[in-house]
Order: sequence, then structure tokens, then C-alpha cells
Amino acid sequence: MDSLARYTSWFRGSTPYISAHRGKTFVVFLGGEALAHANLVNTVHDLALLNVLGVRVVLVHGGRPQLNEALTTSEFHNGRRITSAAQMRQITSLYGALRADLEALFSTGLPNTPLHNVEINLVSGNFIAAQPIGIVDGVDHQCTGRLRSANTQAIQNLLDTQAIVLQSPIGFSTSGQTFNLAAEELAAELAIALGADKLVMFNDPGELKDAQDRRLSRITPELLNNYCADLEPITAARCRALVKATSNGVERGHLISFAEDGALLQELFTADGIGTQVSIQHEDLIRSARFEDVGDIVEIIRPLEAAGLLVPRSRALLEQEINHFIVAELDGVIVGCCAVYPFADAAELACVAVHEPYRHQHSDLGIGSALLEAAEKTAASEGVNSLFVLTTQTQEWFVKRGFMPTDVESLPSDKQTLYNWQRGSAVLRKTLNP
Ligand SMILES: CC(C)(COP(=O)(O)OP(=O)(O)OC[C@H]1O[C@@H](n2cnc3c(N)ncnc32)[C@H](O)[C@@H]1OP(=O)(O)O)[C@@H](O)C(=O)NCCC(=O)NCCS
Repeated sequence: MDSLARYTSWFRGSTPYISAHRGKTFVVFLGGEALAHANLVNTVHDLALLNVLGVRVVLVHGGRPQLNEALTTSEFHNGRRITSAAQMRQITSLYGALRADLEALFSTGLPNTPLHNVEINLVSGNFIAAQPIGIVDGVDHQCTGRLRSANTQAIQNLLDTQAIVLQSPIGFSTSGQTFNLAAEELAAELAIALGADKLVMFNDPGELKDAQDRRLSRITPELLNNYCADLEPITAARCRALVKATSNGVERGHLISFAEDGALLQELFTADGIGTQVSIQHEDLIRSARFEDVGDIVEIIRPLEAAGLLVPRSRALLEQEINHFIVAELDGVIVGCCAVYPFADAAELACVAVHEPYRHQHSDLGIGSALLEAAEKTAASEGVNSLFVLTTQTQEWFVKRGFMPTDVESLPSDKQTLYNWQRGSAVLRKTLNP
């Protein structure tokens, strides 16, 4: 494939993700190392693209290395910086400078840059109410604080205007005192408070690996929590933030690299991703299809119909028969489907299809197998004792999953009359457990 064809195919392939992400709220964390990295300008362009595509972006920044450099002495307790009143003044001016740098980057619009003719409003404010950490193990944390509450309504109102909300890790008490907050913790807590759909943590490394040094593309919060003890402290703090957010209602967390150009787009707009995604186990991967899924089902099955793997179905027929369909949904995107049609004491399994990039990809999920399992449960719950399928090229897959070859005469009589001898599909049957 030449580069234009690859680009076209990638852009087309991103369509389901674009519609899945539109209107969703993403809290994105950019730590101090990310702000100092040469790739920051590309990251900013990619965040601007998300904004243009209708994603509601809240950007939380850190500044740990910048603070380490600016503060001549820093004391820590349990990894948390203890902030004196004098240091708090330095910190607010340092964060002010970092904010201004980001505002400048989001404002550049030279003709040869992606932000040309794009106006992005980056808005900050006093959205965070903080309280002191207080005295822990006899150590007074002074101006180091934690989130008390967030003015989520004010943030949502700004997101409604298509602004990107930029939040520094500082908050204010009711008496007007300023507190220094742990940026990763703030990002997680803000994501939870906002009911965000995603928390994206930029980090280096931008992925977790298993014992064989292979990238972990997906992990549950429970497993990630176990990993944290072996990670270096900064990555561990970011992973703990992901655990906290995804265990408290934020549907997905992502760890991705701030150093790699395009990592954000690859993670969010491709099936493979590039970083590590954190989400609770997908009991809800499979569900009954709804009328609004018809368009996505059409996208999945059309190429398979054209290749002769599936019998063509018009959109009108799909709409009529949508109640028979089951779909697999990942990250808001329909990635597979099948249909179950009851006939007397047997049911037909039809239209089994998994969108190509998702086939046999996640060995832990097996989307085709998960659909089949759900179809068997549906058929059993409808009181039938066997499931049959007509297939031209996928016999082996079904046989491996308990189907046995049989003949056309064993089909329910209504189905026999509809059998297409020219197509000559193999007939397979599986007896269901009662
Ligand atoms: C068949 C299909 C639904 C499987 O989806 P999937 O998500 O990849 O399924 P799983 O992950 O559960 O299973 C993957 C395994 O099936 C194997 N497999 C995939 N297609 C196969 C086929 N046509 N014949 C034999 N084995 C096949 C894979 O090699 C893999 O094997 P492994 O685990 O031993 O390495 C998918 O390949 C598809 O959509 N195919 C095109 C449509 C089709 O043929 N539908 C059936 C018509 S009724």
C-alpha cells in the first residue's frame, strides 16, 4: 500500500472512533516532563484536533521537575512535597508561567501549522476548592493540600462553549489560602467528579509491559494496582491515578507516551492503540442490538457480503430484524454482531461477523467466541435445544466450538425450503445444554 492509500485507509478506519468520542469528556494529564519535552507542540496539536472533533477536553498540568529546579530545598513525606507559605508563592508564579506557555502554544496559528484558522479557547479559573493535608505522622504539610470539591458546573458550562479547560494543580480554601495539590491525584479526582469518560495520562514510558516484555494493551484496575508496587515512583503515581479513576466510574484510562509523536491519536483512533488502556472487565461487551446500531452493523457486514462470506441483507431487512441481533461493543464502537432466529425447537445462528481489526486480536476477549456464547445463551433462553449455522468458509471455526456437520434435511422444514443450493453452504449444528 502506498502512503496515500495507507493514509486514506487509516482516516476511513477512524470514522467509528470519531463518532464514539464526539461529545465525550476526556480529562488529560500532562506532567512537567511532558511540558518540557520537544514533542509538546505535537501533543498540543493533537489535543486541539480532539477539541475540533467535539471532544470535551479538561487539561490538568503538572510541574514536578520545574518545581524541583526552582525550589532550592524541598522536603517530602511519603512521596508528597511539603509546601511552605513562601514556596507556595513561588509555585503559583511558576504554574502561572507554565499556563501562559500552554496558552501561547494553543494560540499559534501560522499558515504551515495544524492550528491555522482554528481558534481554541483555553480557559482557567478558580474551580478547585482545596483543604490542607494537615499533620500526618507528626509532619505538618503546611500549604500542601487536597481537593475538597470542584465546581463541576462551571467547568461543564465552559466545555459547552467548546473551550478547553486548563487546570493547574492548585486550589483555594474558603479563607482564601492557596494550596499545592498532587497533580496526578487531582486529574483522577476531577475526572471522577466530572463523570468523565476517559482519563488520559501522558507518561514515559507510555505503556506497560508483561513479563515477556510485550505491551499490555489492556489491563483491569485490579491488575494495574498490583503492578504499581514494581513501577518507578512517577509512573506508579500516574498508574494509581488511573486505578482510582477507573474504579470510580471513569470508563477508560489510558497511559500513553508524551515523547512519541501521534501517540494520542493512535491510542484513541485505532483498534490496536499504542499505550495501555485501563478498564474494568467487560461483562458488558456483548448486548442486544438496538435500532441505532443498524448503521454500524451495515459497516461491518457489507465487505463480508461483497466477499461472499455472508448472505446480503438490505438495510430495511436489518431494521426489521434488529431484535434478533446481538452486538459486541468496545469503547463505544460496535465491533461485531450475530443474529439468532428461532425455528420450532432449533434456532439459526446467522450473520456472525467481527470487524476485521478486532478479529483474534484480544486473546483475552475472543470477540467472535463471546458473540457465539451469547447467541447460545439467547437460543437456550428461548427454549430451543440446538443451534444451526449455514456457512461457506468458516466451518472449521464453528467445528472447533462444538458444531457438527449435518445435512440440509436436518434443517427445520421452513428453513429447508429457503436453502440456497447454488450457494451450497455447509450446515452445522450444535446441541445446547439445557
Ligand atoms: C469467524 C469470526 C467471526 C471469528 O471472530 P474472532 O473474533 O476472530 O474469533 P475468536 O477470537 O473467538 O477466534 C479466533 C480464532 O478463530 C480462528 N479463525 C478465524 N477465522 C477462521 C476461519 N474462517 N476458519 C477457521 N478458523 C478461523 C483464528 O485463527 C483464531 O484461532 P486461534 O485462537 O486458534 O489462533 C471472524 O473471523 C469473522 O468475522 N469472519 C468473517 C465472517 C464469517 O466468516 N462469518 C461466519 C459466517 S456465518
